[in-house]
Amino acid sequence: MSIIKKIKDYYKKQNNNILFTTPSHSQGKFIIPNAKNILGDKYFKSDFSEIEGFDNLRCPDGIIKKVQTHIANIYKAKSSFMLINGSTSGILAAMLAVLKRNDKVLIARNCHISVYNGLVLTGAVPVWFLPDIDEQWGIYKGIKAGEIEEYLNKYKDIKALIITSPTYEGLFSEVEEIARICKKHNVIFIVDEAHGALLNFADFKAKPAVLSGADISIQSLHKTAGAINPAALLHISKSSKVLPQSIQNALNLINTTSPSYPLMADIEATTSYLNTYNGKKQIKNLLKMIKDFKEHLPKDITAYDGNNDMTKILLKFNGYNPQKIASILNKQYKIEEEYTTNNAMLFITGIGTDKDKLKKLLKALKNIIKTLPQDGHKTDTALSRIEPIVKYTPAEAYQKEKKLIDKNKCVSQICGECILEYPPGIPLMLPGEMIQQAHIPYIDKSKIQII
Ligand SMILES: Cc1ncc(COP(=O)(O)O)c(C=O)c1O
Repeated sequence: MSIIKKIKDYYKKQNNNILFTTPSHSQGKFIIPNAKNILGDKYFKSDFSEIEGFDNLRCPDGIIKKVQTHIANIYKAKSSFMLINGSTSGILAAMLAVLKRNDKVLIARNCHISVYNGLVLTGAVPVWFLPDIDEQWGIYKGIKAGEIEEYLNKYKDIKALIITSPTYEGLFSEVEEIARICKKHNVIFIVDEAHGALLNFADFKAKPAVLSGADISIQSLHKTAGAINPAALLHISKSSKVLPQSIQNALNLINTTSPSYPLMADIEATTSYLNTYNGKKQIKNLLKMIKDFKEHLPKDITAYDGNNDMTKILLKFNGYNPQKIASILNKQYKIEEEYTTNNAMLFITGIGTDKDKLKKLLKALKNIIKTLPQDGHKTDTALSRIEPIVKYTPAEAYQKEKKLIDKNKCVSQICGECILEYPPGIPLMLPGEMIQQAHIPYIDKSKIQII
């Protein structure tokens, strides 16, 4: 029995049950008209609470348990958890499960903001390190095992390591080698694999973290694998000592007590599909289509080709300002990219990307390059490399009173808010860190919170 089958069976056999339970739309008998306009009524029909025969996400022992066990088998994990609030909730749960107040955690600074939020919730103390930057492309590089070994030799009391691999732009770190080093140093290794949900189902340049010895990995199914927002998964690897119950306890702390059955049914459908012959073939075809796309780019457009996830299309334009090209793509061709910097432009593809979409993008880029004169544009170092000066831990900083001051008076004060670098949306400065002169050009508002 699965969640999907249970929902289908409910309608075959129990359609006349009278439910005095939440949700109050009574399985679609009443739908707010404007909601019906955009959602239809099917979604509402599968939207239940924990009624008889259904299961409880807090302590699953029925259909949810069966589906999670099925997912763990697909991913060859010790345990897998359905995440009903995105990778964000998986990252928080992983941190809450393994970190205590004042534990030291080694974190690559190009982490997602949820990692910072996890520090606030756990009271753990970050030891930040800045991954190398590829200056040409203006992106963070993957992390080498040697770097991690050096840090773990230098700081003897690290409890856990958190990295993002693949990165937003698709760059892989040396996860397998890093996992070996972490095991040697008795450090729990957490991989934010939000962008790597397809890695288990085709030949990529790197294996998924769950098969590479990382303790915990987290994947967003909604980003590349075709599921709805915010479907995601957390896996504990077979070789890990992390206890599944500790993850369950942490998820119970942050999850809603009203998980969406349509969302869980979608997670089940997505993971099952990815594991079929057709699912795997579709991902293989996607990789082939992208390879063809990259091979047919005009000579003044270069696609990033390193140790990266091929589904990310990162392009550089020889002698053209990428912002200008993005503007034409958006306005004239109605094509929206993920982001554009002074250096490059990122397009995210996934299981739903078809030949037609890629053909239209290729045609538009070819037309633009043919008609737009080169402007001699030079790339710059898009990303900052500012070593943080930490005065308070994230948990301490969160508790402190804040006040707003003018940006031009804030140097040497202690920052009271998250200043993110967009793109790609990673922390430039965090609450509790000293504001340095070098931060000022990156702050695009007139007032800033300080402690
Ligand atoms: C690297 C990375 N990790 C985690 C997340 C959070 O994922 P979700 O949106 O599934 O919560 C994101 C989202 O953009 C991300 O880019």
